[in-house]
Amino acid sequence: MNIQPIDSPISEFTCDALVIGIHKNLQLSGQLADIDRATDGMIQRLIDQEEVTGKRGDLVELLDPRNLKASRLLLVGLDEADSLDQKTAFQAAGHAAKHLAAKPRKRVAFYFGDDVPDDISSAAICGMMTGCQGQDLYRAEKKLNVPDQVFWYGVNQPAIDEGRLFGESANTVRRLVNEPPSVLIPSRFADDIRHLVEDCEIDVEVWDQERLAQERCGALLAVARASVNQPRLVILRYRGAGAGDPALALAGKGVTFDSGGLSLKPSDAMKTMKCDMAGAATVVGTMIAIAKLQLPVNVVGLVGLVENMIGGNAYKLGDVLTARSGKTIEVLNTDAEGRLVLADVLNVAGDEKPARILDLATLTGACLVALGTNVAGLMTNNQPLCDQLVDASKKTGEPVWQLPMFSEFGEQIESDVADIKNISEGRWGGAITAGKFLEHFVGEIPWVHIDIAGPSFREKPQAWIDAGGTGSMVRTLVELIRRLA
Ligand code: BES
Ligand code: ZN
Ligand code: ZN
Repeated sequence: MNIQPIDSPISEFTCDALVIGIHKNLQLSGQLADIDRATDGMIQRLIDQEEVTGKRGDLVELLDPRNLKASRLLLVGLDEADSLDQKTAFQAAGHAAKHLAAKPRKRVAFYFGDDVPDDISSAAICGMMTGCQGQDLYRAEKKLNVPDQVFWYGVNQPAIDEGRLFGESANTVRRLVNEPPSVLIPSRFADDIRHLVEDCEIDVEVWDQERLAQERCGALLAVARASVNQPRLVILRYRGAGAGDPALALAGKGVTFDSGGLSLKPSDAMKTMKCDMAGAATVVGTMIAIAKLQLPVNVVGLVGLVENMIGGNAYKLGDVLTARSGKTIEVLNTDAEGRLVLADVLNVAGDEKPARILDLATLTGACLVALGTNVAGLMTNNQPLCDQLVDASKKTGEPVWQLPMFSEFGEQIESDVADIKNISEGRWGGAITAGKFLEHFVGEIPWVHIDIAGPSFREKPQAWIDAGGTGSMVRTLVELIRRLA
């Protein structure tokens, strides 16, 4: 897809489709007034008839609008003009783009207003790019078609470049999540990562099974043991600020398939478990974005890639594992594997001496129960860092919500036979007991755990994005890292 700015009068622009953002209670002015004039007052009439309301989620398509050189006009709601934010722009652009992508298009133009702030324009461009990209990787006849050329009115080149970068990063995350689990096995994931960061200033180090054993990553290796596909740990180093320790480590759960292990999942719960590497994919997408933006900051990304399977050599309930940190873990449920993988990944992250750590993981179904499918759960040992992340997410409109880390939750994972156990007695507060487990492996380093079990994957399509991986949190993490730089 090629994206270009335009500044010629949009009412005279030749294209397959012209997408126009409409606000609530709008006084037609500027370019919109021109279009209204060209169409003999059609836009105003539609507003008067309340056919076009400007409400978020509204989409009205007009075919062959008279006196315009566009073959169709799409009017999308942007809510109130004075409160236009990234979320509304992202979803509105995605909605229009997804609608248009039902057929191949050559030229599509967007107009969301004359003075849209750059960050909102780039969120819209990102939304447009994710909107027209489907989960149909393996479908001969695509359900969604990416348009050849997109034109955006009133946007400068840097905002376009940034929007395109966010869109590409999010779509990379989505593609990785959407790959079938027998395709994206750990070794292939590691190869893809090498490939993806080839044209970035990122150093890649890959630990194979042998190295993981030398490093005594006993928790990660136990999870991987029953799979014929060997695990990997990938370290990505981006040094935008030159020498010195990283300002941030990003750790990701990369369970390329979670069968549950001997605590086998029922079919219905297993069928979406290719998504269990979304944390790792989000780390990779974010590293690519900050490297291409050349942010002046050092960040290290670490992803633990394993398959959680069954077999004669599977790790068992009652096993006691020794994590890389030396802590011993009693295994009471092999489906609580993400925290075991992250225990070792977080310990390796600590060796990099980062000033802070964030981890991303599709860690618990309990987080979905607590917060629903759209909201990421945050757990922290450092309130100021968590507040920074919450602030960044308010700007990007990717919702997060903090959960408490009271010590009572920690008591629930005390074990009689080892230092800790990998599940609590009951299932209540399961997102938090998982967070408490991870806290054991970050030491004194300020840290936030981001449980993305909900927002990273959709079973059903939405108006602005197809089902499958969502690519969520990339824009929020880049926003946070920008503020650290
Ligand atoms: N990968 C799952 C969590 C998950 C559930 C992610 C639904 C996305 C959607 C995780 O490994 C898991 O199975 N967790 C268990 C923990 C339990 C055994 C303590 C869960 O949530 O049921
Ligand atoms: Zn599991
Ligand atoms: Zn899992």
